[in-house]
Amino acid sequence: MLTVPPFATARTEIAGQSIAELVKSFGTPLYVYDISVVEQRISDLAAFDRIRYAQKACGNLAILDRMRRQGVVVDAVSAGEIRRAIAAGFSTDSSKHEIVYTADIFDREALDLVVEHSLDVNCGSPDMISQLGERRPGAEVTLRINPGFGHGHSQKTNTGGEQSKHGIWHEQIDECLRRADQARITITGLHMHIGSGTDLEHLSEVCEAMERTALSVGRTLKTISAGGGLPVPYKSDETYVDLDKYFQLWDATRNRLSETFGHRLELEIEPGRYLSAESGSLIAEVRSVKKAGANVFVLVDAGFNDLARPVMYGAYHPISVCGARGDVSTREQLDVIIGGPLCESGDIFTQREGGFVESRKLPMPMVGDYVVLENAGAYGFVMASNYNSKTRAAEVMIENGEAKLIRRRETFDDLIRGEVIPE
Ligand code: LLP
Repeated sequence: MLTVPPFATARTEIAGQSIAELVKSFGTPLYVYDISVVEQRISDLAAFDRIRYAQKACGNLAILDRMRRQGVVVDAVSAGEIRRAIAAGFSTDSSKHEIVYTADIFDREALDLVVEHSLDVNCGSPDMISQLGERRPGAEVTLRINPGFGHGHSQKTNTGGEQSKHGIWHEQIDECLRRADQARITITGLHMHIGSGTDLEHLSEVCEAMERTALSVGRTLKTISAGGGLPVPYKSDETYVDLDKYFQLWDATRNRLSETFGHRLELEIEPGRYLSAESGSLIAEVRSVKKAGANVFVLVDAGFNDLARPVMYGAYHPISVCGARGDVSTREQLDVIIGGPLCESGDIFTQREGGFVESRKLPMPMVGDYVVLENAGAYGFVMASNYNSKTRAAEVMIENGEAKLIRRRETFDDLIRGEVIPE
């Protein structure tokens, strides 16, 4: 099993590149991705027949391109993600299954695109079967099943059970089969994604639910998908899932079904976070260090407009400090609160779920130093916004010892493009 990396609180480089030099070249706030980490994570999952990256985690075209070159395929949850996948070079040839549209609804644009390119569809509602049937009778689809229970690192990322809007309720399979017959659609695969941050204890239940559902759908099935949800450690007391055990459970389920159906089913996995989280860091510059009673606030130039996870889920990100003038590892470690520039008191990176501010022991940061928010490569830039009219950060990829710009910093012109002042 993979060991959890030590999370240092002082650093001067990312993937061999000086943080001070990166900032000099590209400014702050800055997202930096070490592509070698993504490549490593892809190879960890080689036992699966197909790795389908959930591009919602980090959809920059350069990252998608490098994944594609390693044989990874993608899912798309919107028309925009379909277009993004095509722009990154994924094939729309339906025999290659490189792009799957997976959602709970078709908006009109997504349905048009799916029909135009004959894309694979993973249906998360019975209505999708009928709507596709009207436009593309004879199509093959997979179904995303809500097995009636779920799991997640936060209530907001739990994707199973009665509280979840996702997937087809496990008791509605018969209705789906009827709708599929009416629309001359064949159900060729099943998919279960029960939440981000799933663990092994839960997994055997998921596999059993998959098997039960597969047996009720029958021999038309050709694939099963384990969905995403593989966790990555954000703290030193967290662990990776034992991937061998994870694979064995799914493989055994697949093998039993293959035996029953008399043909081999393919086994897919659909990770987002696992492939990109640990590759990414967000660098921000310290602009003020101030006190409020007993608290020390270190305010940096990145906010929840750049990284929303702490404010949305109370998510914990490892944080390190890089001195403006070199190494800070010998500085005194003090409890500080790290916040951003936004005009909103929730703009704090060190908080737990519910908005309670927490402090973090760090080498005392000073104005001009850099703070690095680590493990920010999944659900980081992609959840960024223009709140407070902030332009979105630049993104840089480190590849073969070279820092390459993969998205330029937004400008004010980008911000107001499309706005109209009527006469
Ligand atoms: N497949 C489906 C159908 C999904 O809905 C998701 C995530 C994934 C795969 C990938 O899950 P992952 O392997 O990344 O856990 N913004 C939240 C996470 C939301 C996940 C939404 N769906 C966060 O920052 O933690």
